[in-house]
Amino acid sequence: MEIEIPEFCLIMLVGCSGSGKTSFAARHFRETEIVSSDHCRALICDDENDQNVNEAAFELVHFIVERRLAARKLTVVDATSLEESSRQELRKLAKEHHAVVIAVVLTVCLKELKARLAARPDRHFPAEVLERQFKLMERSKHRLEKEGFRHVHLLEGNNIQTAVFSRRKMRPDWSHVPGPFDLIGDVHGCIHELKLLLAKLGYQLSESEPFEVVPPEGRHLFFLGDLVDRGPDSPQVLRVVMDLVKQGHAFCLMGNHEAKLLRKLSGHGVKPSHGLEITLQQLEGASSSFLERIRQFFESMESHYVLDEGRLVAAHAGMPENMQCRETGAVHAFGLYGKSSGKVDERGFPIRLDWASDYEGHALVVYGHTPVATAEWRHNTICIDTGCVFGGELTALRYPEMELVSVPAERIYYQPGEKV
Ligand code: GTP
Ligand code: MG
Repeated sequence: MEIEIPEFCLIMLVGCSGSGKTSFAARHFRETEIVSSDHCRALICDDENDQNVNEAAFELVHFIVERRLAARKLTVVDATSLEESSRQELRKLAKEHHAVVIAVVLTVCLKELKARLAARPDRHFPAEVLERQFKLMERSKHRLEKEGFRHVHLLEGNNIQTAVFSRRKMRPDWSHVPGPFDLIGDVHGCIHELKLLLAKLGYQLSESEPFEVVPPEGRHLFFLGDLVDRGPDSPQVLRVVMDLVKQGHAFCLMGNHEAKLLRKLSGHGVKPSHGLEITLQQLEGASSSFLERIRQFFESMESHYVLDEGRLVAAHAGMPENMQCRETGAVHAFGLYGKSSGKVDERGFPIRLDWASDYEGHALVVYGHTPVATAEWRHNTICIDTGCVFGGELTALRYPEMELVSVPAERIYYQPGEKV
């Protein structure tokens, strides 16, 4: 039985005393990855069984877990974790540090637990304690997903012995991809300006499908999302970008407009507004295979990526340092929408908060989403959405040269609150 885990997560072992948590953890994780309540008790009073120091021991557990998660280190908690309240404390820490939480429940029958207890010189408590723990464990099992665990792995019998963990990279982790890149801001269906910008950047694009490109030596395109909506030909922009991604000449991440179109293409009800209604018109009569291709393309994308050994972060709406290279729902939503006040302005646009104003991260963050008059560096971040569809410019950032290359919009394609 293979259990796939992301290389950064919080794993809670859940199980009665004697179910084998400590032995299991030692088989699968580094000593420093395991935070054990028994060990913390012993650190405080030299006796891992002394329940009088529980409060201090768990303070220590939480302190270490918190510091490890802040450092983006995989952490395994070896404690019974049978009470919802104890799990809740840990989940709170995971949420603060954007760690996925995974439960691994070890179920061993009561008879066996009692036999192990009797044989253990290191445990001295009455067997009734095990009965109480066993009930809690049975009740917990069915609640864990509702409590907010991303994955719940129920192991019993032989599976406890045979389970193996395989660690996978975080999905936004493309740190092995060094560039150089030409990062392109929100295209919003502006096919004409996209073609002009590609030419200006030195990419020779073929006239017709399948689109092929001769890039400048060694360079890759990187689209920052919001390829679609509002503009004159979103389907054609998608054809170009999907072909170039397929051929390995371009990368692309997901913007909020792709997220909304993806919901629509997946059969969910969405309000056709903010330019989606225009894309849907343009897609009328499109073949089901083209729509399925778009759906699969969108499904494969994250809303931010970490590139070039961690020196560069590409995101749609932005990405604070404590969310980079993480993959919770909150992180994905931040990548799509940025920091929002939850209110809209007089033109019906969401009022966005300036996440970059206090950015102190090491990685450069290149993002789009919020149209700006000119792309300017602020605290190691730059927004390169220069509002092409609103009559501004389509802008690219050449990385690592840090040169901005823009083409002006041929005209205003979309006014806030208006249909073309
Ligand atoms: P507590 O720390 O008391 O909560 O227990 P735990 O869940 O950490 O169990 P631990 O790994 O310490 O194992 C308890 C006892 O069961 C030890 O004596 C182990 O040698 C034994 N044990 C652990 N796993 C297995 C197993 O898979 N099979 C058998 N037969 N014994 C096991
Ligand atoms: Mg133990």
